Formats: sequence, C-alpha cells, structure tokens
Amino acid sequence: MKPVAVVTGSTSGIGLAIGERLLNDGFQLIVVGRRPAEEALSAYKQAKVDGALLRYERADLGDPDDTARLIDVLRPFTPRVLVHAAGQCPEASADDPKAARQELLELCDLHAGSALQLALGLAPAMAAGAHIILLSSTATRRVAPQQMAYAASKGALDVLCRHLAVALKPRICVNAFAPGLVRTPMSARAFGDAALLERVTTNTPLGRLASADDIAAAVLALVRMSPCFMTGEVMTVDGGNHIPW
Ligand SMILES: NC(=O)c1ccc[n+]([C@@H]2O[C@H](COP(=O)([O-])OP(=O)(O)OC[C@H]3O[C@@H](n4cnc5c(N)ncnc54)[C@H](OP(=O)(O)O)[C@@H]3O)[C@@H](O)[C@H]2O)c1
Repeated sequence: MKPVAVVTGSTSGIGLAIGERLLNDGFQLIVVGRRPAEEALSAYKQAKVDGALLRYERADLGDPDDTARLIDVLRPFTPRVLVHAAGQCPEASADDPKAARQELLELCDLHAGSALQLALGLAPAMAAGAHIILLSSTATRRVAPQQMAYAASKGALDVLCRHLAVALKPRICVNAFAPGLVRTPMSARAFGDAALLERVTTNTPLGRLASADDIAAAVLALVRMSPCFMTGEVMTVDGGNHIPW
C-alpha cells in the first residue's frame, strides 16, 4: 500500500506543486480545495496516468462544519503526511476599521483555525512518524501595509506550529515553511509590478524569483527525512531574501 498524503490548497500554486512532487515520490494523494473536481484534477499530469493514486475532496476550510466533515472522510486513510497550504491574501481593508477586523478574523480562521482543527482532528488517525507541514510566509517579518491581516494570521500559524509540535509529540512532527514571494495565482498582482520584482531579485542572494516547485522541493526534503528529529520549526524558503546584506 502506498502511503497517503493529504494536501489542502492543492488545486493551485504551491499546494499543486507539492501534490505533484508527492505523487512522483510514490504517495497516494488526496487533493483538497473548493473548485469543482474536474477542474481540480485536470491540473495534475498524473491524473490521466493512474486515477487510483489521486482523489479529490471538495471542502471549504473557512467553514468549521465542512472541515469537520472533511476530517471524518480523511481519517480512514490514516495519512502519513498532511500539508496545509490552503490560503488567501486579499487586498487589505484598512480604510474601514470594521471591515479590517472582519478580514483579520476570517484570515486567522482560514489559516490558523483550520490548521488547528485539521491537525487535532486528523492526528489520532495518523501513523507514528507522520508529518504535519504548514504553509506560513515571510510576510510575518516585514511590514507591507496591504498585508496587515494576512501577516498577522500567518503569525498565528507560526505560534500554532510550536504548540502543535508539543501537543502531538512524540508521534508526529509539526513544522512550517515560510516562503517569500512565489509565482502563483495568489501573487499575480505582485508579479505585475516590475519594480518590485527587480527589487526582490536584487535582494535575493540566490539571484532569482521563486517558483512553486522551489517550495515543493523543500517540503519533499522534509517529508523524506526519516527519522525526523525536528519539530516546531518555521523554516524560511526565500533564496536568502530575508538576509540583510
Ligand atoms: N504565492 C506566494 O507568494 C506565497 C508566499 C508565502 C506564502 N504563501 C502561502 O502558500 C500557500 C499557497 O499559496 P499559493 O500562492 O499557492 O496560492 P493559490 O495559488 O492562490 O492557491 C491557494 C489554494 O488555497 C485553496 N483555498 C483558498 N481558500 C480556501 C478555502 N476557504 N477552503 C479550501 N481551500 C481554499 C485554493 O483552492 P480553491 O481555489 O480550489 O478553493 C487553492 O488551492 C498559502 O497558504 C499562502 O499564504 C504564498
């Protein structure tokens, strides 16, 4: 039996790249997103090769009841890996304080709340030595005014990563990756800003912008780590862009 990996947010961008790599690495993959199944699975090259390896579960992780239903569906698969990549980065509503508060609550719930519910709900069904991997962001460490709520919600996720590492010890390793700017549908606006791209590239020691597969490669390296003696870590994957040089 192939080990099972569940990847939320794997209908697009970074989650999709992680899903592709897990499939190529011999995992049976359960893709989670909100879009219709046909659209979600057509993104996967392997879907045509072997449908048995690929399953789609449609769920809105902003909805606790739908998340609970998803957990019930996933438990019997006893996942070896859970990657939580689902996320959104809307334009901030700073001009309207009430809307700004609502946006913060909703993003905290989507990024951190669903991570908490999924991790606590699925952990009892996960094998010893399993990995839970969360997608954070370097937005937590620098101030971009339009990303106030997004950054705060990812900060909550970083704190949760450490707490879950202890709550789920010693059977499950809980870690997070914090990418910088990555070319995906989420960052389409930023990728239309030539001056920003020039600045990011110039300030990145590895000298280029990140693709979704750069992040997937890092996630796979962690998944392959066996035994894993690392938990509660938030690891930066930004080509060194965070280094002041
Ligand atoms: N791109 C970047 O520059 C960057 C940088 C740092 C961190 N990140 C983080 O990396 C993760 C992936 O981002 P990405 O750039 O790959 O974004 P993306 O291409 O926009 O993909 C976002 C994914 O999240 C899913 N999703 C969004 N809301 C959901 C909900 N309520 N319920 C279930 N699924 C939901 C989407 O699925 P459907 O569309 O099917 O609903 C999609 O699969 C996010 O957590 C993001 O914060 C991204």
